[in-house]
Amino acid sequence: MVMSIGAVILAAGEGKRLKLDAPKPLAPCLDKKLVDFPLREIQKFFSRNKLQGFRTAVVGHQRELVTAYIANRYADVKFAIQAQQLGTADALRSYFNSSAETHKFDFTLVICADTPVVSELELTEMLKLLVEEKCDAVAATFFEANPSGYGRIIRGKTGFHIVEEKDASDDQRKINEVNSGLYLLKTAYVLEHLKNVDSNNKSGEFYLTDIFKDDLNVKALTFPVGDIFLGVNNLEQLERVEKILRLKKIKELRDHGVRFIDSTHTYIDDEVEVGAGTIIYPNTFLSGKTKIGKNVLIEMGSQIKDSFIADNAQVLTYSILDGARLHIGAQVGPLARLRPGADIGEGAKIGNFVEIKKSVLGKGAKVSHLSYVGDAFIGEETNIGCGFITCNYDGANKNVTKIGKNCFIGSDSQTVAPVEIGDNCFVASSTTITKDMPDGAFAISRTPQVTKEGMAHRFIKKKQ
Ligand code: UD1
Ligand code: MG
Repeated sequence: MVMSIGAVILAAGEGKRLKLDAPKPLAPCLDKKLVDFPLREIQKFFSRNKLQGFRTAVVGHQRELVTAYIANRYADVKFAIQAQQLGTADALRSYFNSSAETHKFDFTLVICADTPVVSELELTEMLKLLVEEKCDAVAATFFEANPSGYGRIIRGKTGFHIVEEKDASDDQRKINEVNSGLYLLKTAYVLEHLKNVDSNNKSGEFYLTDIFKDDLNVKALTFPVGDIFLGVNNLEQLERVEKILRLKKIKELRDHGVRFIDSTHTYIDDEVEVGAGTIIYPNTFLSGKTKIGKNVLIEMGSQIKDSFIADNAQVLTYSILDGARLHIGAQVGPLARLRPGADIGEGAKIGNFVEIKKSVLGKGAKVSHLSYVGDAFIGEETNIGCGFITCNYDGANKNVTKIGKNCFIGSDSQTVAPVEIGDNCFVASSTTITKDMPDGAFAISRTPQVTKEGMAHRFIKKKQ
């Protein structure tokens, strides 16, 4: 039987305590925004359990920004507007008012936009309980040594109810089992009970938690690790959540055979892929859509963003890669900078203080020291000496340099683009190439040396 679920992301809140310009759902988290996490996990939850349904974000505070962000990235997500933030039950009412379809799903999942650690695994466990025990509603709970701020779980005969911090008695405040704010509900059940929720409480808000009752068929599912439900209300919690997510990512990679020298100082974003046998040193930042192969070496201080690194490649100390591609066995650094479009061929070598931009280097090519290569094609096995520059910019346009295969480009040379050097060419050191060279040519543009014997003393100045 295919089950259907309407998934609701509560994202109407303001998030004042974060002190950011952005509304809370758009607070940064790793290389994403907070709201990306529940949206993604719901998607995984849907596919893993072959569920039908759609995701709806309840938006309110700065809703234009939140809506634009989500709509640009997730074409299928729907929106419900909560005009005033009157409480979580009111937010869910806005959701059910947004379309008749929302009433038809078997179940309704409610998740907050600010709990990025919650994963599809918890959602799946809740679904299992709901189905197997045939109950009407499940709330995820956990034990918290310092429960202040959370709703407390008061267990009853068949069910339970939740008392919010403000409304709790001194005894109730001592209860350590707390509400996570994550619920999976039978849609018929929530529709029936949502009607009766009022705002007769200390906050004057409509509490969604009031739909749980002691004598009804509702279950509190306790999770052993509270960190999963950590909500982001301030910058300290944001930092904690990011640390948890990073450690989770590192554990996942380690379990697949990636070796970390000191994972507490290694920063790997969510979507980065790393192959087995790869060694990652500390103080490295791997971000964006980076994909790293097997048996790769990433030395300390390297920053790698949106890059592809094939098997057996090496990124040596303090190298920066952004939008770069390293083929098998290529070596980069130490202290190299690869900018977008740098494509380093199999076994090719880029050494220290070399910057490469939008350039393709063939197999075995070498640019070993202090050079700038931009908008260039460099052929296989070509060796570029120290201090080489592609003069690619004429102040208005970027021009292309082409160098063939098996060339030797002497140190301190420049190519003034657009220019083309054929295969098997030799450029003498200190040469400025301004004209094309055919295959097998030699070029030199050095000023002849003048040596005047015994004349040095005229130029050597002594301190007064
Ligand atoms: C809520 C729960 C509490 C639980 C805690 C877990 C209620 C009444 N209380 O309290 O039992 O322990 O979460 O973190 O639900 N939101 C809206 N519209 C509103 C109000 C809130 O969209 O009118 C959204 C917020 O943006 C947020 C979520 O709902 O994503 C939770 O709201 P929040 O005000 O943080 O509830 P808590 O007081 O933390
Ligand atoms: Mg909260």
